[in-house]
Amino acid sequence: MAVRLDVFTQIPHAFAWLTEQRPLAAVLGTELELRLFNYRDTTPLRAGQVDDEPYGGGAGMVLRVDVVAAALDAVYGDERPGRVIALTPQGRQLDQPLVEELASEQALALLSSRFEGFDERILEHLCTDAISIGPYVLSGGELPAMVLVDAISRRLPGALTEGSGERESFSAELEGGLEYPHYTRPPVFRGWEVPGVLLSGDHGRIERWRREQSRARSGR
Ligand SMILES: C[S@@+](CC[C@H](N)C(=O)[O-])C[C@H]1O[C@@H](n2cnc3c(N)ncnc32)[C@H](O)[C@@H]1O
Repeated sequence: MAVRLDVFTQIPHAFAWLTEQRPLAAVLGTELELRLFNYRDTTPLRAGQVDDEPYGGGAGMVLRVDVVAAALDAVYGDERPGRVIALTPQGRQLDQPLVEELASEQALALLSSRFEGFDERILEHLCTDAISIGPYVLSGGELPAMVLVDAISRRLPGALTEGSGERESFSAELEGGLEYPHYTRPPVFRGWEVPGVLLSGDHGRIERWRREQSRARSGR
């Protein structure tokens, strides 16, 4: 059964380029179903309004709780996905173990916001999780949602050429550490040489060298 990722956003067209790229394009329609929902299409307010001024004053606009509730009700009724995730710089920080955890779910809803962010009641009552893609502030949740969609989709069967996802940075194969360096032709460029071991044809030595490099880069 395909994993279903539903993204709620004010700018669904921003996702067009992502769906044309591998690995997402390779699994879209088979292992992955991606649906995009615009809060404006289901807002109960007039003229497509989705946000409002913050109580207590201050700059910026806040995404309204009634707007998000209406969007979730319209799409799911009473059958919400197991995890409804708000994308916010204040959430649990995304890392590879969290990506693996999310990739094992059958359905996820990803909620993005813009400007000042979410009415706190959205986080408290409508979401199960809050996730941040890093300790910095972006202008909207669209890029974070794309980061999550990309990271999850490349863990799905058929997304990557065989084996390439098993041995990469943060994988169990490399004990959660960083990947070793890669080189390709030419063997020498401006005097910069490829390490001789990689040209030796000795697979045992190459494997040992790669393990050492991976451990050194990972500070082990
Ligand atoms: C300008 S930010 C709001 C920042 C919020 N006022 C604060 O100080 O925590 C607007 C929206 O972008 C998204 N966003 C920004 N940075 C993010 C991050 N590091 N991770 C996930 N989402 C982020 C969230 O959806 C957020 O509500």
